[in-house]
Amino acid sequence: MKTDLGVFLKAAMRRPAVIGAFAPTSEILAAQLVEVVPRRGAPTVLELGPGTGAVSGLIRSRLPDDARYLAVEVDRAMVDHLTVTRPWLEVLHMSAAELGSRIGAGEVDAVVSALPWTLIPERTQGQIIEEVAKVLAPGGSFTTIAYLTGTSFGPGKRFRRRLGASFDEVLTTRTVWRNLPPARTYVCRRPIVP
Ligand SMILES: C[S@@+](CC[C@H](N)C(=O)[O-])C[C@H]1O[C@@H](n2cnc3c(N)ncnc32)[C@H](O)[C@@H]1O
Repeated sequence: MKTDLGVFLKAAMRRPAVIGAFAPTSEILAAQLVEVVPRRGAPTVLELGPGTGAVSGLIRSRLPDDARYLAVEVDRAMVDHLTVTRPWLEVLHMSAAELGSRIGAGEVDAVVSALPWTLIPERTQGQIIEEVAKVLAPGGSFTTIAYLTGTSFGPGKRFRRRLGASFDEVLTTRTVWRNLPPARTYVCRRPIVP
């Protein structure tokens, strides 16, 4: 069987602008990212860009028995790898910009993202955030990784402003220096409906 790291590195070399990282998310950053995942009830949780599943196992370990766990991944090789190695994960092979075609409004309690936002064209970025805001249930949370390599520059700053314009609350967590590259997470709640 192909290893997670081998599949990730191959995809990162093949499509650097889509994968957007040199290595899978570290466990310490993943642990910070999944804190919004509910541990009780029957929540629906959506992961955007699961890649080779570095965050997926931790999400699963928090979920109660009655939860539904979906993931949306645009890269075919990643989807194939997840299907073999994480058969418990319901993976949809499509772009996160098309969420509304498969997921109903207000259906999701937590959205967890590791998308490489600063590499995603601005128009698509806007569509994805709009879709996330639509599928989130009232009281739901959206959390995403922000790599430090991007946060200080134009695209990263524009992305942070976009989140501020789209959600009533955006919290920034502490930086995880032991991730490659170092990163923090944004936790967004209460979408602002235009
Ligand atoms: C930085 S990697 C993160 C992978 C994994 N979640 C991790 O944390 O190691 C970003 C992932 O997002 C996926 N991706 C990029 N753009 C996407 C989009 N528009 N819709 C869905 N997935 C996308 C890539 O194919 C890749 O698997």
